[in-house]
Amino acid sequence: MQQTPTKLDHFVSADQVDPSLAMRLIARAAAFKAGATPTLPQPTYVANLFFENSTRTHTSFEMAERKLGMTVLPFEPKTSSVTKGETLSDTLRTLAAIGTQVAVIRHPQDDYYTPLIAEDIPLHLVNAGDGAGQHPSQMMLDLMTIYEEFGHFDGLTVGIVGDLTHSRVAHSDMQLLTALGATVVFSGPQTWYTPEFEAYGAYVPLDDLIPQVDVLMLLRVQLERLSPAELTEFDAASYHDRFGLTAARYAQMKPGAIIMHPAPANRDVELAGSLVTAPRSRIFTQMTNGVFMRMAMLELVCTP
Ligand code: CP
Repeated sequence: MQQTPTKLDHFVSADQVDPSLAMRLIARAAAFKAGATPTLPQPTYVANLFFENSTRTHTSFEMAERKLGMTVLPFEPKTSSVTKGETLSDTLRTLAAIGTQVAVIRHPQDDYYTPLIAEDIPLHLVNAGDGAGQHPSQMMLDLMTIYEEFGHFDGLTVGIVGDLTHSRVAHSDMQLLTALGATVVFSGPQTWYTPEFEAYGAYVPLDDLIPQVDVLMLLRVQLERLSPAELTEFDAASYHDRFGLTAARYAQMKPGAIIMHPAPANRDVELAGSLVTAPRSRIFTQMTNGVFMRMAMLELVCTP
């Protein structure tokens, strides 16, 4: 972990965020939500490069950029020179050369950003998700949503349940939640609780975990990242029965406990379809908060 930064050139990983910076970003995002005026230098040019599909992160970054007064350059990988074999490095050098100051990137390759940062290309990189690596803006909007609900992290128990292995959300969130004083526990198929999770929290069978947690964070089963053997074995109804939030499990949650999910949610897999908008669900609040948190993150990297 670095010293508490007052400025980040790039925002790519939970490793860059300590509790003090997390709280500063939460406060700034809450101020934006309450109507604070952005102070970004203008013009600031940004391109969003999404090499993996996205609904929320892409539109939320673009909404945040527009609310900040940034000028958004359209970029579509399928119609760019990426299709002619241009490297990501050369694409970014090109964008920098024409005056783009910020590149928001989602890419299927884990840690795609480390070699790019080492190249010192003169633009700010913001990671919108790398493979099964990191998803720092999702982490920050999740933290904002929890803080908005409870007003603290200390003493909270957060259950992270589901496809842990393939989840960049789990990898990012567990780091900061524990650093902020929350207790993290995990559940779901035990084969997905790999050794990297042991340092952050124990595995707890789902029916024992449900009544303990203040926050139940459900993770999408990432069918696109399962091995052929895992995909053959996967059965949605059986998963829901064993590891999903059913109406019966919902009834076992603590008073005041909330449900979160980064979405898109597989209805009737991670949770019953009827629970997506249940009173305890904060799934759409997460999306609302994402815009304000991304404004705070972009402001941090863009402000000189
Ligand atoms: N939560 C999230 O990253 O959603 P998208 O894949 O739709 O961006």
